[in-house]
Amino acid sequence: MKYNFDEIIDRRGTESYKWDHTKDFFGRDDLLPMWVADMDFKSPPVVIEAILRRAEHGIFGYTAKSESFYQAFIDWTGKRHGWEVKKEWIIASPGVVPAIAIAIQAFTNPGDKIVVQTPVYYPFFNVVKNNRRELIINELIYNNGHYTMNYEDLIEKIDSKTKMLILCSPHNPVGRVWSKAELKRLGEICLEKGIIVVSDEIHSDIVYSESKHIPFASISEESANNSITCMAASKTFNIAGLETSLTIIPNTELRGKFKKILLKGLSLTLGNIFGTIATETAYRLGEDWLEELLDYLEKNRDFAIEYIRNNIPSVKAIKPEGTFLLWLDFRGLGLSDLELQKLILNEAGVALNHGTVFGKGGEGFQRLNFACPRAILEKGLKKIERAVKGLKDD
Ligand SMILES: Cc1ncc(COP(=O)(O)O)c(C=O)c1O
Repeated sequence: MKYNFDEIIDRRGTESYKWDHTKDFFGRDDLLPMWVADMDFKSPPVVIEAILRRAEHGIFGYTAKSESFYQAFIDWTGKRHGWEVKKEWIIASPGVVPAIAIAIQAFTNPGDKIVVQTPVYYPFFNVVKNNRRELIINELIYNNGHYTMNYEDLIEKIDSKTKMLILCSPHNPVGRVWSKAELKRLGEICLEKGIIVVSDEIHSDIVYSESKHIPFASISEESANNSITCMAASKTFNIAGLETSLTIIPNTELRGKFKKILLKGLSLTLGNIFGTIATETAYRLGEDWLEELLDYLEKNRDFAIEYIRNNIPSVKAIKPEGTFLLWLDFRGLGLSDLELQKLILNEAGVALNHGTVFGKGGEGFQRLNFACPRAILEKGLKKIERAVKGLKDD
């Protein structure tokens, strides 16, 4: 191992959302943070060095993106995901959530309906509602520890006002890496019904050995022409604070509409220098680091699942195929959602994301972020174990 993911780095005092802001969300600042989806690991040394080198130059004026920025991303998606992206399809954007908001403004009108597949990353709800569009819930099917899409329900809920579906692929929080067949079926329905797919693929690089991420737009030319894909190096290389993402729109007409809002409506033209440098460097030079990270994360995932199976059998862990998020089914405890929240916060002293925030289907669940040194993961699991067993924490 070239990189040390066991290193415990104190993030407190950096205004880290995850570590320094639990009080804002949970009313306490003594919790072990295992919630916000960033990692407690340093970014690849090559990324840190590139940022430092640029910082030493000392002038941070308006800076464009080079050809090699786009080429690094094209090479990455070709190599890692087998998707040949053309330079003209790519639009550099701020975060993925802002890109989704722009897509909503570009391709739908107030009052239009937008489908999300719950339980799902909750900012999707806000971005739809805050743009005065109507949220349509297409709940995933949960059967025997496995989630699948509910196509019948989707077809039933689509009407003439339904204009968009926001796909989470891989899926946060349930950890599914959607198969080609699943994406194909979804794509066919959306195409037939005239619904644009916004495919949020921010977690696409965090996929475990038994699975393979398939970009929605790579399924067919029709899917490519009916989709907007959101990707970023932010989750993969732990640079989310640099607020840089890539939006890929093969359809010329759709791309024009998106650019009009981004570049003219919002004047978001050049982006952040450090986000640009970190993203390009990570895609160009970060692959060996990612391979080691994936190995570490997969071991963390398996460690957590094994720990829960052996020590907290009343809680069921849904094995994620991708993402560094573990979706935990606490329904076996027979608690109300409020009782469960109290147990996790007050008895366990751990900050997890409450299942209910992910919408329908999240009741009785909690989301745990296992992108941390194994010692911290073990500490968090022990805290949960003691709380579930009704013991006082050490
Ligand atoms: C599915 C998904 N999309 C988007 C984001 C956030 O993206 P950004 O910070 O680029 O807006 C997250 C972060 O957790 C996420 O899980």
